[in-house]
Amino acid sequence: MKTQLNDKDISKHVKELKKERGAVILVHNYQLPEVQDIADFRGDSLELSRMAAKTEAKVIVFCGVHFMAETASILCPDKTVLVPDISAGCPMANMITADELRTLKQEHPGAVAVGYVNTSAAVKAELDICCTSTNAVAIINHLKNEKEIIFVPDKYLADYVSKQTGRKLITWNGFCPTHIKITPEDIKREKKFHPKAKVVAHPECMPSVLALADAVLSTSQMGKFAKESPAKEIIVATEVGIIYRLKKDHPDKEFYPASERAVCPNMKRNTLEKVLFSLENMQFEVRVSDDIRSKARKAIDAMVRIV
Ligand code: 13P
Ligand code: SF4
Repeated sequence: MKTQLNDKDISKHVKELKKERGAVILVHNYQLPEVQDIADFRGDSLELSRMAAKTEAKVIVFCGVHFMAETASILCPDKTVLVPDISAGCPMANMITADELRTLKQEHPGAVAVGYVNTSAAVKAELDICCTSTNAVAIINHLKNEKEIIFVPDKYLADYVSKQTGRKLITWNGFCPTHIKITPEDIKREKKFHPKAKVVAHPECMPSVLALADAVLSTSQMGKFAKESPAKEIIVATEVGIIYRLKKDHPDKEFYPASERAVCPNMKRNTLEKVLFSLENMQFEVRVSDDIRSKARKAIDAMVRIV
C-alpha cells in the first residue's frame, strides 16, 4: 500500500534535497501558506530577483509566476532557475507581446518606453526602462525632459502613476484579472465592519478602489506599512495570499482581505509537492536567450540607476 506524504514530510524532503542540490527557494508574497513556510526568502517580484542575483546558490527554485523567474534569469544567467509549475503565467504580462509594443513605439516615435516588471522578457527587451509598483511614480517623475512616455501594460497602474505625477501617459489596455475583482463596495463593506481599520491597496486595483484607500502600496510596501503603522487593523486590497504573511509577521494585528475573491489562480499552481518534484527532477528550467537577455537587462539596469 502506498502511503500518502503529509505537508510536514514533504517539507522535510524539500529541505534535504535543497541542501543536496545547493538550491534556495524564493517565494512570492501571494504563494500558498505551506509554500511560504519553506521559503528561504519571501518578497515581491523584484526583491526576489535581486535576491536570486545575490545568493551564492547555483540553483533557484522560484515560486511565483513565469515573468518573475525570467527576470531572475536575466539578472543571473549563470544560475539554474527552476519553476515548480511551468504553466504558472501572469495573464496581465501576457496582454502585450513584443510585436504589439514595437507597433506602439512606431506609432509614437521619440517616446520613451516604460514597462511594468509584469511583462515577458521579450517585451522587456523592447523597453527603455522597467519599473515596479514600488518605484513607478519615481521613474516617471525622473523623466521630466521626455515629451512622450509609453507606459505598458497595466492601465490602472498607469492611471495611478499619471494622477500622482501629473504626466499624460500613452497606455495599453492591460489589467490584472485578480485585482479587478476587488470593488469599491468591498472596501465600503469592510470599512463598515472594521471602522478603525486602515485600508491599503495595490496600484493594480481599479481607480474607484484606490480612491478609498489610505495608502496605495506594492506588496513589499504593505509589509512595511504593517510594521510601521500604529494601526491595529488593516484592510488589505490585493491578492489574498499576502494575508498569511502579514498575520505571521504581525500576530498582534488584524488583517482583513478586502475581497476573498481576489485569488490569483496562477500563483496558486505552485504546490508543496511540485516544489519537491522540481528539486527531484531539476524541472522546469526557465532560461532567457542571450540576445533577449542583454536587451532586457538594459531596461532593468536603467530602472536601478534611477531609483
Ligand atoms: P509586487 O511586485 O507588488 O509583489 O506585485 C506583483 C504582482 O504580480 C502583483 O499582482
Ligand atoms: Fe499577474 Fe495579477 Fe496574478 Fe499578479 S495577481 S501575477 S498581476 S494575474
